[in-house]
Amino acid sequence: MSSNDEIIKTENLTKVFGSGKKAIKAVDDVSISIKKKEVISLVGQSGSGKTTLARMLLRLLKPTAGKIIFEGQDVTNIEGKEKKAYWRKVQAIFQDPYASFNIFSPVKKVLLDAFKLFDNKFTKEEKWRMVCESLEAVNFRPDEVADKFPFELSGGQRQRVMIARAHLIKPELLIADEPTSMIDANLRSGILELLLDLRDTEGTTIMFVTHDLGLAYYVSERLLIMHEGKIVEEGEADKIISEPDHPYTKQLIADVPKLSEEWLLE
Ligand SMILES: Nc1ncnc2c1ncn2[C@@H]1O[C@H](COP(=O)(O)OP(=O)(O)OP(=O)(O)O)[C@@H](O)[C@H]1O
Ligand SMILES: [Mg+2]
Repeated sequence: MSSNDEIIKTENLTKVFGSGKKAIKAVDDVSISIKKKEVISLVGQSGSGKTTLARMLLRLLKPTAGKIIFEGQDVTNIEGKEKKAYWRKVQAIFQDPYASFNIFSPVKKVLLDAFKLFDNKFTKEEKWRMVCESLEAVNFRPDEVADKFPFELSGGQRQRVMIARAHLIKPELLIADEPTSMIDANLRSGILELLLDLRDTEGTTIMFVTHDLGLAYYVSERLLIMHEGKIVEEGEADKIISEPDHPYTKQLIADVPKLSEEWLLE
């Protein structure tokens, strides 16, 4: 499929780690297409290749083979300025946000540095006001965290800072890899709603990456089911849950007791 309402697609995308007998095909010949403004989830068990696929889409990891096309342009090999422009449009919230912060930067610098991605014409005061708004959006009082270093925060707090950063940048495509895995249950749904609001207010396309089919079903319109590096099933979330085709999808559904019970009752 190729049309104007498509934001990103991959063609036969593959990533092999290592070589010879030890080679691992983490992503195996994946061709997917994501529409503008859709909320889609990439679902699969641990080790199925989700993060590897996400990191290639983000151009943080070089594919072994295949292509990535963003808004009609081949971005598989872009570097330098083009890559910076790409990161203005495509942003991530990571599973392990610790790895993506500069540990020597306090939170306010992490967030203010996001403006380097813009050709920014904002004044210092404007930037600071936007940083404060983003921190408040993820339930922080700006003065409680602005001067803290990443190692002084909990895992969930670091994830909230990353979400604040995404909120600040307002990318066209947001790839959220287990974005709330470390966030307390009582804050989690509010934070998910905040991400979904970005789609409604800014038209952000969102790809959630998760092993949690229940969460994926709750937040998304379409699902991509990943198993051993391959997309084994894709389609509307309702359709996949009610009429799964692939044995692996059936297994995933059976593993979420609430989901299978809900559908059995119908
Ligand atoms: N940098 C790397 N070097 C070597 N092997 C890797 C590397 N990154 C991932 N792998 C391997 O690739 C496979 C897929 O890993 P990946 O992190 O993409 O899985 P995942 O679906 O995101 O899992 P999880 O749900 O646990 O996050 C695994 O077998 C993993 O060990
Ligand atoms: Mg992962």
